[in-house]
Amino acid sequence: MANSAPITTDVARAIDILQHGGVVAIPTETVYGLAACVAHPEAIRRVFDVKHRPYDHPLIVHLAPTSAIDEWGIFNDDALKLAVTCWPGPLTLLVPRTASVPDIVTGGRDSVAIRVPSHHVTQHVLEQLRDGVVAPSANTFGHVSPTTAQHVHDDIGTSVDLILDGGPCSVGIESTIVDCTTSPPQIVRPGAITQHEIETILATKIADTSGPSRAPGMLASHYAPRIPVELVDSLRAGRDLMSRYKRKYRHCVLIHHEDLTEYAIHLYDDLRHAEDMDYDGIIAVLPPAEGLGIAIRDRLQKASAAKTAQ
Ligand code: TXA
Ligand code: MG
Repeated sequence: MANSAPITTDVARAIDILQHGGVVAIPTETVYGLAACVAHPEAIRRVFDVKHRPYDHPLIVHLAPTSAIDEWGIFNDDALKLAVTCWPGPLTLLVPRTASVPDIVTGGRDSVAIRVPSHHVTQHVLEQLRDGVVAPSANTFGHVSPTTAQHVHDDIGTSVDLILDGGPCSVGIESTIVDCTTSPPQIVRPGAITQHEIETILATKIADTSGPSRAPGMLASHYAPRIPVELVDSLRAGRDLMSRYKRKYRHCVLIHHEDLTEYAIHLYDDLRHAEDMDYDGIIAVLPPAEGLGIAIRDRLQKASAAKTAQ
């Protein structure tokens, strides 16, 4: 069996590998990303291959807080307001791209997804590289995103050059994506920056995630663990189902956190843990559809879609 890449806190080594066209898993506040420099198209191709991701699924360009964002995208007033208020942070903006963005990053689209992450380790990497870095979530295509260096190791450890350990992610679910190429802007993936926050910043109503998504790769089962996930609306319903399931399944687990921030932080680890324990089923309690609860519900619904449909 191939050796796994080292898990390390050696930032200088990560920078060196990226500068020389390697592929490194990096920590962000949302989830771990699989990074390659935009200047190295062969490294970007490797990112797609490691993930088994189709080449037409575009990637997010990650930039340092000090970088000139208008070299990468064209920011209208709304996009600028969101960038100034929310970056660095868990927000990705879709904006028209400039000529500096290669086709392989956008899958040939006219728009580019840009994010300035707040994780201090990755900010340091980006500052030193003085280049954009593509970084999809560092999991195999369709699997649950990683929120620790160990998760990355378990999924794709043998296919990357280095795993840079920045500790567990402080947000735990992927960034909010806002499409600023339309008026009004539209949320295409809910996240920790909520619709209410965005509407407050823009002082206007925006379109929410309902209707067909315009972000490719938002498949119904995109965040699926390998075991069935059943959703319930209350802790009480979850407990009832658990006791009935005890007769049906060998082992199952109930996922629930009262506090929404904690729910998001632990969600993917809870799902992976259930897989590792080889449980037969997961029951998850849907949080209320407000604030961060909307993003958690979105990920839970995707996690349950694949297996319950079978
Ligand atoms: O929190 C995050 O956003 C993490 C961390 C690592 O930064 N990254 C992440 O990347 O979730 P990824 O590739 O797993 O998800 C990015 C989503 C994909 O569904 C992709 O289709 C969409 O963003 N996307 C990227 N560029 C796009 C574009 N130009 N137009 C439409 N959708 C785009
Ligand atoms: Mg992903």
